[in-house]
Amino acid sequence: MATQAVLFLLSSLCAQFLTGYGATLPEYPSQPLPLSGLLNNKAATSANGHGSAANFDGAGSAYDSQFLPTGSWEYDGLSFALPSSWDKNDDNVLANGQVLRLQKPTSVHELHFLYAGDGTGAPVLSVFTLNFADGSSHEVNLYAKNWWVWANVNRAAIVTPYHFEKTGKNLNATNIFQWSTSVPSESPVESITFPPKATSNRMHVFGLSITPSTTNTSGGPALAIRRARFTTRWEDIEGVRAQAVEVTLANLLPAFAISRNTSITTRHTVELVGSGIQTVTPGVINRLVPADQVRIDVFVTGSTANGNATIQIRDSSGNVVATSGEFPTSPLVDNYTPDADSLSMHETPSWWNAAKYGIFIHWGVYSTPAWAPPTSYAEWYDWDIRQPPNSSNPTWEHHLETYGKNVIYNDFIPDFTASKFNASAWVDLFDRAGAKYFVLVSKHHDGFALFDTGNTTNRNSVQFGPKRDLVAELFQTAKAEKPEMHRGTYYSMPEWFNPDFAKYGFGQWPGGLAHNAFNVSPALEPYTGRIDIDDYIDDLQLPQMIDLAVKYDTEIMWCDIGGPNKTLDFAATFYNHAMAQGRQVTMNDRCGFLPDFDTPEYATFGSIQTAKWESSEGMDPFSYGLNTATNADQYKNGTTIVQTLVDIVSKNGNFLLDIGPTAEGEIIAPMMNNLLDAGTWLDFAGDCVYDTEYWFPSSQDFNPPAGTEPPRFTTTPSTFCIVAFAQPVDGKVTINKRLPVLAEDEIVFLRPQGPTAPLTWNVDEKSGKLVIDVPESDVTAVDFAWPFQVRYKLA
Ligand SMILES: *[C@@H]1O[C@H](CO)[C@@H](O)[C@H](O)[C@H]1NC(C)=O
Ligand SMILES: *[C@@H]1O[C@H](CO)[C@@H](O)[C@H](O)[C@H]1NC(C)=O
Ligand SMILES: *[C@@H]1O[C@H](CO)[C@@H](O)[C@H](O)[C@H]1NC(C)=O
Ligand SMILES: *[C@@H]1O[C@H](CO)[C@@H](O)[C@H](O)[C@H]1NC(C)=O
Ligand SMILES: *[C@@H]1O[C@H](CO)[C@@H](O)[C@H](O)[C@H]1NC(C)=O
Ligand SMILES: *[C@@H]1O[C@H](CO)[C@@H](O)[C@H](O)[C@H]1NC(C)=O
Ligand SMILES: *[C@@H]1O[C@H](CO)[C@@H](O)[C@H](O)[C@H]1NC(C)=O
Ligand SMILES: *[C@@H]1O[C@H](CO)[C@@H](O)[C@H](O)[C@H]1NC(C)=O
Ligand SMILES: *[C@@H]1O[C@H](CO)[C@@H](O)[C@H](O)[C@H]1NC(C)=O
Repeated sequence: MATQAVLFLLSSLCAQFLTGYGATLPEYPSQPLPLSGLLNNKAATSANGHGSAANFDGAGSAYDSQFLPTGSWEYDGLSFALPSSWDKNDDNVLANGQVLRLQKPTSVHELHFLYAGDGTGAPVLSVFTLNFADGSSHEVNLYAKNWWVWANVNRAAIVTPYHFEKTGKNLNATNIFQWSTSVPSESPVESITFPPKATSNRMHVFGLSITPSTTNTSGGPALAIRRARFTTRWEDIEGVRAQAVEVTLANLLPAFAISRNTSITTRHTVELVGSGIQTVTPGVINRLVPADQVRIDVFVTGSTANGNATIQIRDSSGNVVATSGEFPTSPLVDNYTPDADSLSMHETPSWWNAAKYGIFIHWGVYSTPAWAPPTSYAEWYDWDIRQPPNSSNPTWEHHLETYGKNVIYNDFIPDFTASKFNASAWVDLFDRAGAKYFVLVSKHHDGFALFDTGNTTNRNSVQFGPKRDLVAELFQTAKAEKPEMHRGTYYSMPEWFNPDFAKYGFGQWPGGLAHNAFNVSPALEPYTGRIDIDDYIDDLQLPQMIDLAVKYDTEIMWCDIGGPNKTLDFAATFYNHAMAQGRQVTMNDRCGFLPDFDTPEYATFGSIQTAKWESSEGMDPFSYGLNTATNADQYKNGTTIVQTLVDIVSKNGNFLLDIGPTAEGEIIAPMMNNLLDAGTWLDFAGDCVYDTEYWFPSSQDFNPPAGTEPPRFTTTPSTFCIVAFAQPVDGKVTINKRLPVLAEDEIVFLRPQGPTAPLTWNVDEKSGKLVIDVPESDVTAVDFAWPFQVRYKLA
């Protein structure tokens, strides 16, 4: 990691801006809110920890101030006011329910946070409350990332290489994060209430900034370019590798001003203009109403490292109606080098962003015992049996009763037979389930690989158990029979009991041979399949990962645990190998370095994150591997799968739903049936899921009637979807929120036999409330969730 603060966003261009509709635009506005009256914590020091007044986390730890920017600071085109020096006074607000009054009540389009949580684990919900002039209030759900994460990495606005602890340096990368949210703009914001005091995972705010709404509603739409990024994504357009430039356009008018006059309502195109730059495929915007933002790709060639470009917007007659100022360009990467500067540019490919839904498969030696007590992972059997090795431990007890004390974990290998594994049947099921990709566990923490691990180890399914290369069978079959389905691999970076990992061991991955849990001789269990190597990372981890990339052509490297790694070398090989074949691939945030996407586990972000993320969960309520102790009626059913997927997609995430096949390679009937149930729904409602974008105002600021789940919203360039999570009653659906729906738009209901004819609907002009009439017979023909598709009428 560079020793300077690193900006993880690609050339996040100075936000530029169109003045009203029909001219050159001033910048996307952002105004820092003064926090001086509230500062109550000192986060940073230059004093090497000791003797400093800094105490960020309550345990005496602190950032090293030399890595933190000072004063007026721009990030992603937004302005923040940071301390002019980190070494003197309090420098951040430790949340304890404070109220920040705005100097004057202001109608706000977007609110921007610069923050860090002071825990060390997964993101934690932190709720801010906005108080409006009309007496109403609104909760903002910030899923707060913690300043560092043990053994792993975060994507962050400010990255420092370490932090001080009382006794010295902790060398885990340590961060400050930026997150922005839409704000209801019906009434001006008067004040912001910080989250209450917490005892752990406390919220620290380093900066707040607002983008005010434009109050003059008598002109046309108030357009501004929120963000324009030259990405590393590309598309082959007539033999040319065209670079995606992601442009996000805002309409800064307040929500109550929604009308055709204040919106983009016809087909507009977005192009880039600059020396050498050619727009190959313009972006298309058909609809942009007040208080909304829309994100599109413009495909270009010829961008360079030192050039400038402007954005031009044309109306449906081809006239240029708005032009931005200049901003710097950044070329498409055509060769990654094994360093953080090059590799940190990489991002998730367009196909992955559009795919939304994948199937995760936890299958291995642990599928033989296939057991865990409630709320434990069955794939952790080999570890859990020893935690502790006595009768207080249900896994130990279960093992003793079921197999006796002479059976060790390695004895399960021969019973992991894959005898009924039919790769065609699996990929056919995933396809009918509506999944667009799958991620197969290629090796879990037990070190038993499902692929040919060459001369790194014989601990694999080719040498033992099935005597088959299971990864190759599934990949080759998928490639031949479902070429549109993308193929990924989970890979555990550490191994629990590999003797060669002992020198790198940490936490629950100590390395070193396992101690027999029943005091049976030999006291140390053998590591079946091990061959002599010098170094775990150089001779096993890195070559295995490279083989998955180069020999198996994996498209998703879904690492787990992180820790010691040679991910710089791996990632450069992975990305360049794929690019040479015209493919784009991706890597998650658990490879120890350089994440493309975040991966909350059995959790989701409850609010939009504009950087892509993916939630994974088992169909089992608490296990990825098959757990025969779980009753199948506890599995996620059609309703849970569909609603979880739509919820995640509405917040810019993907859903990776896990199944656990048996040791024989069968996907048990209840898992299969639940997958197929969700697939049936996706078959007719997929237009509201695949290849959609989040809706900027989202459902976060939607207050549904008490006790009911709010609907979720998704968008495409020509449609807007409302997916109701409660079955409509009395033939009506009511949405108490202003939507981008204008007179003459058509609204249809998506159902198994195809969309209905256009339904009657009505928007109350004063409140913005939308009521759609839907026939009862259509409602009852649909299970799980009720999708309504608004088709924009292009005026
Ligand atoms: C990261 O933090 C953990 C927990 O404090 C510590 O054990 C480990 O050594 C740190 N890693 C590095 C590279 O310093
Ligand atoms: C509001 O916008 C209209 C149209 O652009 C302009 O003529 C008018 O002067 C503006 N009013 C104010 C108060 O700025
Ligand atoms: C919209 O514009 C038209 C034509 O300029 C005008 O007649 C109409 O009054 C405007 N409507 C609103 C709601 O401002
Ligand atoms: C790009 O724009 C910047 C800022 O306006 C300017 O300093 C720079 O010289 C321009 N570069 C080129 C190649 O025109
Ligand atoms: C099991 O082992 C744990 C950890 O060593 C110990 O605290 C506990 O008392 C033991 N329980 C029994 C029933 O032996
Ligand atoms: C494997 O599954 C496919 C697709 O379901 C089926 O057509 C084929 O007969 C199966 N093969 C075997 C050996 O059962
Ligand atoms: C494995 O084989 C490769 C290719 O022949 C070789 O470069 C490497 O050194 C071998 N590794 C070990 C641990 O023997
Ligand atoms: C991954 O490896 C890099 C380079 O050796 C190291 O800086 C980083 O701390 C490692 N990641 C983790 C989480 O240990
Ligand atoms: C689906 O699962 C949910 C959550 O467990 C449950 O509330 C619901 O009743 C189930 N639906 C059916 C049809 O079983």
